[in-house]
Parts: sequence; structure tokens; C-alpha cells
Amino acid sequence: MSQRKILITSALPYANGPIHLGHLLEYIQTDIWSRFQKARGHECYYVCADDAHGTPIMLKAQQQGIAPEQMIAQTKIEHEADFAGFAIGFDNYYSTHSEENREFASLIYQRLDQAGYIKRKTISQLYDPQKNMFLPDRFVKGDCPKCGALDQNGDSCDVCGATYSPTDVKNPRSVVSGATPVLKDSEHYFFDLPAFSQMLQDWTRSGALQEEMANKLQEWFTDGLQMWDISRDAPYFGFEIPGAPGKFFYVWLDAPIGYLASFKNYCDTNNIDFDSFWQPDSNAEVYHFIGKDIIYFHSLFWPAMLEGAGFRKPNAVYAHGFVTVNGAKMSKSRGTFIKARSYLDNLNPEYLRYYFASKLTSGITDLDLNLDDFTQKVNADLVGKVVNIASRCAGFISKRFDGKLSATVAEPALLKEFVAAGNSIADSFEKREFARAIRDIMALADKANQYIDNKAPWVLVKDDARQQEAHDVCSMGLNLFRVLMHYLKPVLPVMAGDVEAFLNTELSWQNYQTPLVNHAINPFKALMQRVDPAKVAAMVEASTDNLQATPQTQVPAGAKQAKTTEKSAAPAGREPISDTISIEDFAKIDLRVAKIVSASAVEGADKLVQLQLDIGNGETRQVFAGIKAAYTPEDLVGRSTVMVANLAPRKMRFGLSEGMVLAAGPGGGDLFILSPDDGALPGMRVK
Ligand code: MSP
Ligand code: ZN
Repeated sequence: MSQRKILITSALPYANGPIHLGHLLEYIQTDIWSRFQKARGHECYYVCADDAHGTPIMLKAQQQGIAPEQMIAQTKIEHEADFAGFAIGFDNYYSTHSEENREFASLIYQRLDQAGYIKRKTISQLYDPQKNMFLPDRFVKGDCPKCGALDQNGDSCDVCGATYSPTDVKNPRSVVSGATPVLKDSEHYFFDLPAFSQMLQDWTRSGALQEEMANKLQEWFTDGLQMWDISRDAPYFGFEIPGAPGKFFYVWLDAPIGYLASFKNYCDTNNIDFDSFWQPDSNAEVYHFIGKDIIYFHSLFWPAMLEGAGFRKPNAVYAHGFVTVNGAKMSKSRGTFIKARSYLDNLNPEYLRYYFASKLTSGITDLDLNLDDFTQKVNADLVGKVVNIASRCAGFISKRFDGKLSATVAEPALLKEFVAAGNSIADSFEKREFARAIRDIMALADKANQYIDNKAPWVLVKDDARQQEAHDVCSMGLNLFRVLMHYLKPVLPVMAGDVEAFLNTELSWQNYQTPLVNHAINPFKALMQRVDPAKVAAMVEASTDNLQATPQTQVPAGAKQAKTTEKSAAPAGREPISDTISIEDFAKIDLRVAKIVSASAVEGADKLVQLQLDIGNGETRQVFAGIKAAYTPEDLVGRSTVMVANLAPRKMRFGLSEGMVLAAGPGGGDLFILSPDDGALPGMRVK
């Protein structure tokens, strides 16, 4: 195995909000991979930083009445504490608001400009005449130009799904001051992305991107790449563009440059040759881990900027999917928008590291953190299988055998099998197929437990004639445990540290093949407690908030996929009032209170839940409702809702639907069922 030089990054979290469990999927995934590479003996660095610039950060600091510098300094302390809590082992955690970043942003810009890739053009944009600032799309609201829905975002409509330019919005208003925006001209600077079209098409197909991502990008190539607007007018919190007073780099220009800045800062203090990683002919490897919402920036703008400015491009950009909790998008009202801190206040961080690892693949599918499954899986696997091996053997070693492992390996073939599995487990980690690695490790844990069950050392120790055998079996069990903990070390670094203290050895790829014989170990201490469901409930309780969220994320212009985190405080869109109906028309609708007696997912239909409804007088109805996005079906059982009972039955692919339940939602996203107050019983008419 020859030594590789590897630089790894995770996306830089915005400096205006707390780290939450959605973010953590990425930092945990990257950290496991980085720890794995380091364990394999490679020269590997993992860097990150806070993404500190942009309008939302500027405005939030203003709201708090402090300077943005002060706010981002405070946030950085909190982010670092959260990451440390989850054992994210960055080699450097920096900020995009740094001297290094200013220098690299200027350098890259100047090189691009000299090479003719920066164009200047005057454009007209919405301007807040009260705040004296241009308004980013998300800071304009108004009525949808397509369907007329009131109070929609400046760039897209939640009701009809249309996307548009904020200048097309009807009755626009500034979210910042409430004023009516006016159009104002200003000169903007553009990066000539289309000039890199061919290079990018080749690069995206060179193995640098996952298949799904390359396919997604193909759509953009087909539509044709656009010039990218990289300047923003004052007031703006960011870096002023050299030679352009009053113009600032758009936050997304200097954000990825923050990867360079953070690494440079680390190199300077640790005597590492930065250029050997970033010059065009570098033999080092560079990998960016990101969420699927920001592929546009990392797979188009970023490689083009690097190429245009004479730096090497990354070897790969690895995207992951989004975290949902209990089957739905994280939500403050349901207590599933869980901050890193609320988790750490209640639960062991390694539970989450393990759970995410057990579900992570190299693909970009979303990952559901089902809290019941989480509890069950961690308890069954980590406590019930892995720790169990050690706890069943360790006591006897300290109490009866002088704290020393025996001189013989009782079952060499079994140990050999455990050691041999290391190759394919390493291969799974390397390919980011963590779920596969964990499956293989747990299958071995089952084998180890079977071995101990068969030998029953607790019986052997009672027989004076079989002490040696008991000693050998317990030692064998601990040797198997050691190999498994060695494999799990990138996932569970804290527990692995405790195991190293207990087994009095370092868990490493250098020595794991050689069993511990005649080896003194230390007294066993409980390595991991079971997940306490009460603590999980307490965490959800602490996360439940009925206040509305303020916008936290900056939604990238040009990348139109919705972020899965809560977007804004926008009230759900209302349909324009249409033609009226008569009271007689209304009276025709038989609305009834219905109690949900059973609810289940429908195979082959992502959005549907199959409901059995009790509508009084012993009558039941089966209804298929499109409410899956917002609910785990089991949670619905026992709740009451309202149904249209005289709708003609409809035959669906999955069965007969005998009515409809009433639900409300923004259209396109979650739908929430309507619930009557307690006094309303099944069968009652709704008037
Ligand atoms: N500041 C930009 C990234 C700049 S990188 C040069 C940003 N910040 S973020 O705070 O919104 O997100 C940071 C990372 O966390 C992104 O990769 C994003 O995809 C990821 N996630 C944020 N919410 C997530 C989930 N709910 N699930 C999984 N990943 C999520 O984007
Ligand atoms: Zn609309």
C-alpha cells in the first residue's frame, strides 16, 4: 500500500445558524472517511470553515444590534463546540472571513480577469429605497405572476410551483423593510462560465462525480450554461472586489475558496507544502463532500474557477442526500428540527455516528433518521452485539486469570476469518459504502457471540478441570472483539479509545492481524449505555417550538432545488378566491368526523397512506390519502379527522378509495390532516 496525499473538505456551514442533525450527516460521513484514510497510513488532512459572508448574515447581525464580525465570531465558537461534541476531527476549522481567504479570492479573481473571463454588464434589479440596498431574490415577496397566490417568495411560488424573476412578482415588497422595491441599475461583474463548457462536460464524465450527479448536470449543459453574477453592491458583508470600490464578491464566490484558505492557514502553521496540493500537476488527491443541494456550485463554478485561475481541480465531489426525521422533512413544530446541542444534551454522539454510518451509501438518496429505529438499532447492534462480546469475557479475565489473556489462540481459523474480512471492509470504507461495512462487521459480531454461546465460559469456569479452556475461550472472545473494534474505530473513535485503554493496545491496521497472547489487559468498564427512549423523547421535547423560523440558509441562485431545512417564515400560500357556490351546493357535501383505526404505507406509492376510517354506526371506509410526506403512518392511528363521505368511490391501482380526508398544505410539499376538537365523535356531521 503506497502512501497517498489526501485533502478532504466538508461544505462550510453558514455562520448565522446552529448546526443541526441534517448538517451532521455530512460532517460525520466526511469524518469517518478522513479517519479511515489516516488509519490506513496516508498523509491526510481534513479542513473546513464557517461560511461567514452574505446578506442574511449582515441582516441578522443588524437585527441583533451587533457587528457581523462579532456575530460570526460567536457562531464559530458554537459550531466548533458542536463539532467537537460529535468527535469531528478537523485538522483545521477556519472562517471565510480571513486574510488568507481575502488574498486567494483576490488572486483568483485577478487571474480570471486577466484571462478575460470576467465581464461587466449593467443590470436592473429590485432595490429597497428605505434600506438603500439591493434585494436578493429571497428578500422580495409578493403575489405569484402565474397563479396570483398571495405572499410568495421572490423567485418561486409554493402554490403552483412556478419559478420566475423577482421583477415579475406582483405587488412586491421588501422583506427587510416592507417598502415597495424600485428597479435600479447597477454594473455587475460576471464570470464567463460558458467558456468552460467543454472542459466541464469532460470533467463531469471523468469519474469525478457520482453517476446521478453527472446526469443532473447534463440537464444544465443541455439548457446551456449561463454567465454567473459574482458581484454585489454595498452594503454587503464580504470582500470588496479589487479595483471596484463599493462592489463585493458574492458570498458563493469566496465560499469554496475558503477550502484553500483554511488549508493554507493550516499549512503555514504546520510546515506543509500547500502548493504541492494545489498546483496543476499536483499528485495529491482533493475531495469535497457536500449535500446534493449545492452540486451546481461545486461541479460547475468551482472547477471552472480553479481551472481558469491556474489551480488543479478536485479529484471528486461526493454528494450525499438529505436527512429526514421520522420520515418527514425536519420540522420545528414536530420537534424534529434537532440542533446538535439539543442532541448532545441528551444522547451519546456515537449513537448517531453509528446510525448514520449504518445507513450511508455512496449515493445521493435521502437518509431517514427514524427515532424508534435509531433506538432499536443502536441497542441491538452496539450494546447487544459488540459490547456484549467484551462484557461476557472480560470479567473472568480480571477475576480469575489475573487480568491476562491466555498464551494460546483457541480457534485460529475463526480469528483468521475475522482478520481476512478486513480487506473487503476497508474496500467498503474506501468506496463510501459504510452501510455495507457495518453489515459485514455486525455479521462477524453475530459469529463471535455464537462462538461464546457455544463455549459457554460461564459454565466452564465452574469446573476446576476446565479452567484453561475457560481462559482460552474468554481470550479468544476478546481477540475477536478487538478486531471488530478496530474496524469500527473510524465510526466510533471515542469508544475505540476506551477499548484501547481496556485492551492495553492500539487498534491499528499495522497490528490487528496479530492476536494478543499472554497480554495484560485492564479492568473492564461499561463501554456504552443503552439508548434511553426517555432521553430521545426529551430531545424532541426540547426541539419543539411553535414559533416560526427565520430564514437561515441562503438559497443559491441558479440551483432551484428546495433546501430540505425549513426555508422561511412564509405563511402557506392561499389560493385566489374563485367563483362562489350556493349553500345548497355546500349542503350536498357529506362531511363527517372520522377516526383513523389503521394507517399503513402503500408499497409503490411514495406519497400515499392507506387509511381505515371509523365513521360511526359501525361503518368503516377505506381511503388512500396523499399525506405520507408529513407523517409516519403509525402515528396517525387513533387520531380523528374530517372526511368527505359521499364522494363517489374511486378505483386506484392499490385498491378502492371510498372518500377523501381533508388536509391542508402549501401544495407540492407536506399535507396536514385537519383534526376536530375532542368533543367531535366519529360519525358526527360537519356543518
Ligand atoms: N454555506 C454553504 C456551503 C458552502 S461550501 C463552499 C451551505 N451551508 S449550509 O449550512 O446550508 O449547509 C452546509 C452543508 O450541510 C451542505 O452540504 C448541505 O447540503 C448540508 N445540509 C444542510 N442540511 C442538510 C440536511 N437536512 N441533510 C443533509 N445535509 C444537509 O450550503
Ligand atoms: Zn403560483
